[in-house]
Amino acid sequence: MSRLVVVSNRVTPISGSRAATAGGLTVGVLAALRETGGIWFGWSGETVETGMPIPKVFRTGNITYITIDLLQADFERYYGGFANRTLWPLFHYRLDLASFDRDWYVSYRRVNQLFAEQLYPYLRDDDLVWVHDYHLIPLGEELRQLGIKGRIGFFLHIPFPSTEVYVALPWHDRLMEALSHYDLVGLQTSNDLRNFHDYLYREGVGYGLADGLVRAFGRTLRAQDFPIGIDTEDFARMATSTEAVRASQRLSRSLLGRKLIIGVDRLDYTKGITERLRAYETLLQNYPRQRTQVTLVQISAPSREEVPEYLEMRRQVEAASGRINGLFGEFDWMPLRYINRGFTRRTLSGFFRLSRIGLVTPLRDGMNLVAKEYIAAQSEEDPGVLVLSRFAGAADELDGALIVNPYDIEAVAEAMHRGLIMPLDERQDRWRRLLAQIQERDIVHWRQNFVDALAQEIDPTN
Ligand code: G6P
Repeated sequence: MSRLVVVSNRVTPISGSRAATAGGLTVGVLAALRETGGIWFGWSGETVETGMPIPKVFRTGNITYITIDLLQADFERYYGGFANRTLWPLFHYRLDLASFDRDWYVSYRRVNQLFAEQLYPYLRDDDLVWVHDYHLIPLGEELRQLGIKGRIGFFLHIPFPSTEVYVALPWHDRLMEALSHYDLVGLQTSNDLRNFHDYLYREGVGYGLADGLVRAFGRTLRAQDFPIGIDTEDFARMATSTEAVRASQRLSRSLLGRKLIIGVDRLDYTKGITERLRAYETLLQNYPRQRTQVTLVQISAPSREEVPEYLEMRRQVEAASGRINGLFGEFDWMPLRYINRGFTRRTLSGFFRLSRIGLVTPLRDGMNLVAKEYIAAQSEEDPGVLVLSRFAGAADELDGALIVNPYDIEAVAEAMHRGLIMPLDERQDRWRRLLAQIQERDIVHWRQNFVDALAQEIDPTN
């Protein structure tokens, strides 16, 4: 069997110190790689002022980690600039927040070239190289230029936007051409795949073929949707672990019998946190009987604090939290507990299990693994209700959730209310359906499908 070589900008925190703020990528990739073993190559999370990066190699279990530091200037332009202020907002349909800067693009290309050069000596001919996410779109092309002929696949963890939005990127054609150097391009949902095809067709640079193949920029490759899953059994076990039970008992005691509504996200403007808080405010406004009967715990782990848009959004969330507590709070009840730090996934699993409602209401999200973790953590005797945004990739699969439009504040408030009063048998029916979905399409399913598709020969005559 070929060796798996995973490449991503962010490598899972070995120490565990960052685990609480980890996004779907590191959670998913770690779970997938643990099973097969292999190499995980990426940024160390450290920056240096000068000098050439020297890869650090270390092994834990069956995974060999190879990480490199970034130059401070590259970190600012490639990561802080092009990845997080150009591609991230644009791919999440936030053209209003996207900035375009040639120096950032140049740095982005340079870092991708550097990643390729640093990875090259470790590669064997029959490796399966699996590149992850928007930071590294040109990596495949760079590896090809160094003469790598083996199989290279790419998976995009965030949405692939509609053509109208995507073409606002001054380098839209360059990045699409870079993608055509992969043997396989994987996207989260059928909608992302449609957008990908639509671009090729409308820009006149390619078209779809049979069996998931596409022709793009004169090359034939496979493009398919692979919705990412979680290690469902593992997360379910976590939710009954000592750490989870202790944390949830502590939280439960503090609630004094009130129903818990929970939201857990990186503090990111795509997650719709201010809209969610407005919906909660509307719930308290429109359903006065719920006042003093519920508590919303909103956990927002700090993220990308060097990016100005994130600081601005933090201020907005803080202001909204203060307003809600000021408006509705009683001397013996605060409607909202807003917590601006991360917790371990174990602790969170306990909170999920205790809650009556899980709010996952992003304005746009590639998949959103919190939605799946929320389901996995529930108990059969008393499952909570998932309120899920239609704009999360997860909504495609999870039809047992209460699906909402996060921009429709009144509707989200109604869904919360519906969840609060939902009879036990309906909660159980919905939850069983959801659980079956995340059991069937779990992380193993995702990894196997991707790797099998990557290993599959492409008939050049097709
Ligand atoms: C999302 C992205 C990942 C990223 C994560 C955390 O899940 O898809 O690529 O790693 O957010 O963001 P950060 O910038 O801290 O790596």
